[in-house]
Amino acid sequence: MPQLLHLDASARSESFSRELGAAFVDHWKAAHPDGVHTYRDLVADPVRPIDEGRVKLLGQSSLNGVRDLAAMDGVVAAEPGLAGAWAETRPLVVELLAADVLVIGTPMYNFSVPGSLKTWMDRVTLPWLPLAGKSAVVLSARGGAYGPGTPREPFDFQEPYLRAYFSVLGLDDVEFVHTELTHAPVLPFLAQFRDAHEASRAAAFDRVRALAARVPVEGRAA
Ligand SMILES: Cc1cc2nc3c(=O)[nH]c(=O)nc-3n(C[C@H](O)[C@H](O)[C@H](O)COP(=O)(O)O)c2cc1C
Repeated sequence: MPQLLHLDASARSESFSRELGAAFVDHWKAAHPDGVHTYRDLVADPVRPIDEGRVKLLGQSSLNGVRDLAAMDGVVAAEPGLAGAWAETRPLVVELLAADVLVIGTPMYNFSVPGSLKTWMDRVTLPWLPLAGKSAVVLSARGGAYGPGTPREPFDFQEPYLRAYFSVLGLDDVEFVHTELTHAPVLPFLAQFRDAHEASRAAAFDRVRALAARVPVEGRAA
């Protein structure tokens, strides 16, 4: 029974990244009728920014050589001061660990990810998280264009950042799908890019359909 964790991080309801995520889920459910879909809207239901207690969890996790959830529970049981931070963090960790596939719908904000997503990452990430064997699909929307050869290519701190993040956690099956030039339909001075935007959006929907049928990859689970 494959499990999909789907996160949305756009501040907008009429969002290109949200529409890609919704399409992915539709295709994924059709391809995996027995699949379990868990949804978290990081804007409607924001994760609280980390505090000192959450940082202490990280420190104690490292000092005690924690390798799994049970060991983390044990460390917290021995240090009641960590209970509040762990109570807030643990459900997100459990939700992530249960997933075979992580799908993230995210805008590009200021060349990287929005705070809503970064806050989830800061809250949920612990160095022992066993993410190897899982698949991640990042569905992004950008006002501009950042593909190979474009003037803004070096300004894309979103995809390289997320690739680095997942690779350190052992998750190497990461796919990126971008809908670009989303400003073109609304800004008159970008009217010449409307066709390119429509092409990017159509290609993104095609890739989403293919990826939804591909993940999770049989036999990859750690
Ligand atoms: C706070 C903010 C920052 C943005 N920064 C960028 C940026 O650095 N580069 C870019 O191409 N577009 C930028 N945009 C435009 C968004 O990436 C674009 O509107 C995208 O479609 C948003 O995703 P969504 O459609 O899923 O909401 C920004 C938009 C906002 C609101």
